Amino acid sequence: MDATIVPKMQKHYPVLLKEIISVISPQHGGTFIDCTFGQGGYTKKILDFNNTKVIALDRDIESEKIANQLKENFEDRFIFKNIKFSQLTNLKLKNENIRGIIFDLGYSYTQIKDPQKGLSFDANGKLNMQLGLNTFSAEDAINKLDEKELEKIFKFFGDEKEAKYIARNISKERSKYKIDTKSLVEIIDKSKKRKNFKVHNATKVFQALRIFVNKEISELIFGLINAAKVLKKGGILGVVTFHSLEDKIVKYFFKSLSENKSISRYSPILEQADTLFNLTQKKPIIPSDYEVTKNPPSRSAKFRYAIKKTDFYNFDTDVEEQFRNYIEIENYGDKL
Ligand SMILES: C[S@@+](CC[C@H](N)C(=O)[O-])C[C@H]1O[C@@H](n2cnc3c(N)ncnc32)[C@H](O)[C@@H]1O
Repeated sequence: MDATIVPKMQKHYPVLLKEIISVISPQHGGTFIDCTFGQGGYTKKILDFNNTKVIALDRDIESEKIANQLKENFEDRFIFKNIKFSQLTNLKLKNENIRGIIFDLGYSYTQIKDPQKGLSFDANGKLNMQLGLNTFSAEDAINKLDEKELEKIFKFFGDEKEAKYIARNISKERSKYKIDTKSLVEIIDKSKKRKNFKVHNATKVFQALRIFVNKEISELIFGLINAAKVLKKGGILGVVTFHSLEDKIVKYFFKSLSENKSISRYSPILEQADTLFNLTQKKPIIPSDYEVTKNPPSRSAKFRYAIKKTDFYNFDTDVEEQFRNYIEIENYGDKL
């Protein structure tokens, strides 16, 4: 869990690029959906192959600038939409031969450097954490949610052992003044009995707030479900995660849909497969030592993928029920 410290590197590196391209095989052509366009690292590589098309999404409107430059060269093969990936099925995709859908979760180097986004502990940054298309900020959450709700956010999304004391101290302090990035870091520092000298004291709380503000768990769950719907038979669904909760969800989704009968036996299609996915690679693919040296934040990346066995659109999954408590915590934000 590195998250919120501004990395010392100076440039954006697309994580596991070589490995992902080798898995999705764009050399065979087809349409690919890059659900997290960012700086366009994956999209550009896919477009290098002539018979491909990319539909790219990003919730951050800043990505549109890079997308517009790319459109100048690939007008007929590249589309960008400023939407959240949970909204994937709102796109008109019926006639697209979707061969691959990729998610590279989290945020980019450019975003963490931006003080307006306030993703880091930098005292000059706003207590914001909105990646785009949000309805409230981290400042709203910290200053308005109940103490018990804050505790759950820190505990479940940050695995913060001292969630209770931190939430209690936030609740005390905010009755005296409005909490900003600087004061939040100070409150966390004072509340932590167990100091960690390897990572910043505020790392876990900041990660938890970012997940909460961007509803990252709900986004991932509904993004995966919708991606699995629109993918064509033989197509690849691939996800790069950066922390254990994300990875747990992706692992569960792929495992359950490759082991459990997820397709109704009343399906109208004859000789229908009864599981949705083929999971040829059970273990995640991780970056090489060379990549980690070049790009240290890549060290926590894990890439998992599965191959869709059928064109079937409606399938059964209990992923939402399995992770319901996380979705319920994210829904505290609805009242803000
Ligand atoms: C790690 S970066 C992707 C970097 C990209 N693969 C590249 O090579 O340039 C993650 C991107 O996903 C976007 N993002 C995060 N959650 C999203 C969501 N729910 N819907 C759409 N975009 C999202 C962020 O705004 C960010 O630009």
